[in-house]
Amino acid sequence: MTDNKDVYILAIESSCDETAAAVVKNGREVLSNVISSQIALHTLYGGVVPEIASRKHIEKINQVIDQALKEADVTFDTIDAIAVTYGPGLVGALLVGVSSAKALAFGLKKPLIGVHHIEGHISANFIENKELEPPFICLVVSGGHSHLVKVKDYGEYEILGRTRDDAAGEAFDKVARAIGLGYPGGPKIDKVSREGNPDAIHFPRAKVGESEYDFSFSGLKSAVLNYLNSCQMKGEEINQADVAASFQKAVVDVLVDHSISAVKKYGFDKFAIAGGVASNSHLREAMEKACAENKIDFYHPSPIYCTDNAAMIGVAAYYEYIKGVRHGYDLNAVPNLRLGERI
Ligand code: KG4
Ligand code: ZN
Repeated sequence: MTDNKDVYILAIESSCDETAAAVVKNGREVLSNVISSQIALHTLYGGVVPEIASRKHIEKINQVIDQALKEADVTFDTIDAIAVTYGPGLVGALLVGVSSAKALAFGLKKPLIGVHHIEGHISANFIENKELEPPFICLVVSGGHSHLVKVKDYGEYEILGRTRDDAAGEAFDKVARAIGLGYPGGPKIDKVSREGNPDAIHFPRAKVGESEYDFSFSGLKSAVLNYLNSCQMKGEEINQADVAASFQKAVVDVLVDHSISAVKKYGFDKFAIAGGVASNSHLREAMEKACAENKIDFYHPSPIYCTDNAAMIGVAAYYEYIKGVRHGYDLNAVPNLRLGERI
């Protein structure tokens, strides 16, 4: 490869309940982004069923890859490297993507690049914000993770805070289930909250010991459940929209508070959000306002790049590719892979 040749990466993502493939050119241009969502299937069970997720991935993966190449109008010949999420996530689900990527890399004799799922979420910010470069602070909030991260450079991270218990998205999903909204809870709470009063019920904003930037959402979830129980015992009807809006405000207040104080303390002027919960409209509005008040440039991906997708994996892989990172044919799924850890 010559220095000035364009780099095309075929990326695969299957860590949870979306089977996804994308073609990304030079790390910032998404030529295709195909997502086959299993949400409707898992909704029947009120959450993701790991074995069903794996089985659905194996059924869909080749069609999704084929579609990604077609939509990008390229063939395998154009592709310079195959990228895949290898952790964290559901092991059976990850294995489908990893096996596919390994088979392709082996058969086509192309380099293989394993990508950390959270690194993918952070990198989603590079797609539409062409001017964004590290360093910056990023809040990653998804169904499985809540991390406040210092992005020191491409692929170099320092975790400033993380959840001690439930992830933010998990709290949305559990509270939604408790108030009868069903799965996935995040988008449903987001929507119904528009009709509710966020100050109707005061739910606690958790403080976590001495660690300034850690989060805890299980106490908030219990407070919502206790409130629902006590209403039921008193025979009072609950106002679903008020509960949703008040819960959402409690989550958003903590996320905004921690994020802005970290950006200020570490002297940054750029802040980004990522992950499924980053598509929450109230969170985006509140962050936008807080950043404007504190003269911080605020970045966020479009909702389609917030929830799981393969384009973000292709972006992260590009920066690994140009550094010369390559994985061997012994690449495995690592369900608990830590951010910044290289295996
Ligand atoms: O990033 P993601 O697609 O998967 C993981 O890596 O976990 O995030 C999924 C999570 C779910 O918990 C879902 O309820 C939440 O993101 N979510 C939202 C919204 N859209 C998705 N949470 C709050 N508001 C939303 N609009
Ligand atoms: Zn995710």
